[in-house]
Amino acid sequence: MKSYQKLTADVPQITESGEDDGKPLCHQKLSAWWLGGGLLTVAALLSGVTVWVLGQIWWGQHGTPPLTKCVSIPESLRFDCFPERSTVVTRELCEARGCCFVDGDWPSGSARGVPWCFYPPDFPSYTLGSLNETELGVRGFLTRKAKTYYPRDVVKLQLSVEFETDARLHVKITDATKPRYEVPLDVPPATKRAENPLYTIEFSKEPFGLIVKRKSSGTVLLNTTVAPLFFADQFLQISTVLPSTFIYGLGEHRSNFLHSLEWNTLTFWARDVPPTESFNLYGVHPFYLAMERDGASHGVFLMNSNAMEVVLQPAPALTWRPVGGILDFYIFLGPDPNLVLQQYQQVIGFPAMPPFWGLGFHLCRWGYGTSNETWEIVKAMRNFQIPQAAQWNDIDYMDGYRDFTIDSQKFGTLPQLVEDLHKHGQHYVMILDPGISSTQPPGSYWPYDEGLKRGIFINSTQGKPLIGKVWPGFTAFPDFSNLNTHQWWLENLDRFHSLVPFDGLWIDMNEPSNFVDGSTAGCSQEELDKPPYVPAVLGNSLSAKTICASSRQNASVHYNLHNLYGLMEAKATASALVKIRGKRPFVISRSSFPSQGRYSGHWLGDNRSEWKDMVCSIPGVLSFSLFGIPLVGADICGFSGSTSEELCTRWMQLGAFYPFARNHNTQDVKAQDPSAFSPAARTAMKTALEVRYALLPYLYSLFHRAHLQGDTVARPLFFEFPKDVATYSIDRQFLWGRGLLLTPVLEPGVNSVIGYFPRGLWYDYYTGSSVNSSGENLKIAAPLDHINVHVREGTILPTQKLGGSTSVGSGNALHLIAALSQNANAWGDLYWDDGESLDTFAKGDYSYLVFNVTQNTFTSTVLHSNAGATYVTVDALSVYGVREEPKTVTVNGKERPFTYLTNQVTDRQLGCAASGC
Ligand code: NOJ
Repeated sequence: MKSYQKLTADVPQITESGEDDGKPLCHQKLSAWWLGGGLLTVAALLSGVTVWVLGQIWWGQHGTPPLTKCVSIPESLRFDCFPERSTVVTRELCEARGCCFVDGDWPSGSARGVPWCFYPPDFPSYTLGSLNETELGVRGFLTRKAKTYYPRDVVKLQLSVEFETDARLHVKITDATKPRYEVPLDVPPATKRAENPLYTIEFSKEPFGLIVKRKSSGTVLLNTTVAPLFFADQFLQISTVLPSTFIYGLGEHRSNFLHSLEWNTLTFWARDVPPTESFNLYGVHPFYLAMERDGASHGVFLMNSNAMEVVLQPAPALTWRPVGGILDFYIFLGPDPNLVLQQYQQVIGFPAMPPFWGLGFHLCRWGYGTSNETWEIVKAMRNFQIPQAAQWNDIDYMDGYRDFTIDSQKFGTLPQLVEDLHKHGQHYVMILDPGISSTQPPGSYWPYDEGLKRGIFINSTQGKPLIGKVWPGFTAFPDFSNLNTHQWWLENLDRFHSLVPFDGLWIDMNEPSNFVDGSTAGCSQEELDKPPYVPAVLGNSLSAKTICASSRQNASVHYNLHNLYGLMEAKATASALVKIRGKRPFVISRSSFPSQGRYSGHWLGDNRSEWKDMVCSIPGVLSFSLFGIPLVGADICGFSGSTSEELCTRWMQLGAFYPFARNHNTQDVKAQDPSAFSPAARTAMKTALEVRYALLPYLYSLFHRAHLQGDTVARPLFFEFPKDVATYSIDRQFLWGRGLLLTPVLEPGVNSVIGYFPRGLWYDYYTGSSVNSSGENLKIAAPLDHINVHVREGTILPTQKLGGSTSVGSGNALHLIAALSQNANAWGDLYWDDGESLDTFAKGDYSYLVFNVTQNTFTSTVLHSNAGATYVTVDALSVYGVREEPKTVTVNGKERPFTYLTNQVTDRQLGCAASGC
């Protein structure tokens, strides 16, 4: 029986002064002189676009800014004029740049704190000339008279602003005189100008700036007049104030879900490193979602693949600082956060529909010594009837860690293992690294010989394959920006598939990782390897743990393409899998970039078997929901270090609710698959997985919505309750879709957990007992064998009955759970197909059912059905929240037996288990 202890005092309150639970939120008001004082209302009105001329220059453009003016700039609005970390900024160095110097205390910890050297308001920037109307918006030129302190300023820029849809604005700033590198993403072009945009846009001419407002509320979403624009060949910079401190996204980083704006520099450069705060990690996603003050939301995507920094500061304000490419922004006005993400994914592409089996439980480890040892684990899992969709192998299976080879001594029985998995309705996934061994005698290793012949490797500046070092020793790196490489990759995979008929692929080390910095021959000393400004990357060099930025790829230099390596490899891999298997591809990639979700899922990399790492996995998963990669999870029980039974039990419970659920760990540590633990722990793990498996029809339907329109699967609470500010910082709980709330235990030695329950009725998934929350923190029981799962009022969950098999699709009829709202309504849906064929939705090979409860009547409506492809029956319905015992239950006009259970705690449930119900 559930008990809910009210903890009203603990509800996170965000007060006007900006305090959240004692943690400062930095809601400093912008000072009027800075934002408003300089703007003169002169201006031309061009199709609803306002152009302003900025006046009030305080001091000459050259020379030292007067100290009184400098110190009067509020600290939170000081924009860093000397971001270099290699040199300690002095007054002399700072003033040589024409900036204000006001030093202070050394910042503590790793934060840089308030900049000592910052821009005066009249620091030279660009001037906007006249604007001309275009089919979709306006276009104009920006010119710069004074040079900046970085080489090769682009003195004439073209600005184009396109009103692409009512909720989407596209702002592009690039060199007006010659083409520059642009990210090769195929964004569907807008065809007509927005008719009723949700935004207004204003321009400041001198210096150039852009102000975007939400029309309905007047909220300023962006205002780039707060700091000068830079557009040098290898240093671009644009700053804006933000309407609130609620900023999410900007990955891949380890942090709370809600970013800190306390002088927080986030660096974007794909890197192989165990997830650590303030480091640039495996993937790059220059996208943020912001909650405004009134529950509205917007998103900003900078389509730029160069190394960059984003600086968040308490104004609140944000600075983008890429070292190449162009400024290509998409702004999404939502207004609801779900809509913001749909609009973002209309640009980057919707995620692939995973095969149904991909949503089951996956088991892996580095260090299974042999195929027989791997097989033993599979058998142990079966023996204990623990659900397992797929067995994986790490690099152990390879001969000398070379791709497309098998160690015939240790993994000789691999083909038989895979056959056995298939016989049991299970699947097999294997790892591939991009580095191709370059040291085998000619004629003995087809992938390298053939790759050389076809010229598909990345070249050094000398025009020869760049050689680095990864697991097999010296390696060359395939250039996935070249379509010939895709063909070569396909042929390799195809040959290998005839030996081991794998079902999915795990693409690792694809930042790309390299154990020698740059190459065995080092890197050039030229501007791509030694740019004038090096973002705050780990290792202080763009070649740290990867290949030289100067290396040559088919589409461009690696300097531009580095962050796209994982995306391009995933694209080649997914397409090869389709050609080889003719079914939906299953690919999990370590490195990622926007639009990755179209080709692969992602795991969060080399975490540790520690409680903190489990905590951090939730913000990680939620961030990837924002990045359009819903198929995401962390290594359950932790990758490095040995887990404890308690940690692993709790983590298996949480991991059972990662959209991608895989337990994986490193070599030479204790085994952590469920069969390795005591009967009690094993049973608790099995129970959690069974809950997942029961809910797979619901999860699968959520993935279909993600695929179709970009809805999130693992969802932050504020997406469903955007007006409830208390949800904005929650990242120890999350939702599946709109209707299921997960409240895992994330600390040792407890048997209860505190969770926030937004206003409304929440039903315990297991018992149907309910709590009517006023929007409060509640303490709920959480013994070691239990994870709390609650159903939101008004939800109907399609679940499957288990039994008979550990493979994902039980083949059994469905059991619906309807959780009534206070008005006794509920709604749900089901997308169902054969689970693996390609393009089932486009081809119409699916069933789509909508379920409803209104006025004591449940109806199921089949909106689409293709009986040849899908077969689905529902044989039980449980209704949570029935207040009085019904006299009769009729199904299609006929009375049917039912059971009615009262719940002594708060509410009642009706369980109708009659077949045909
Ligand atoms: C690094 C990956 O992140 C990890 O999951 C894998 O086990 C090792 N490479 C070995 O392949």
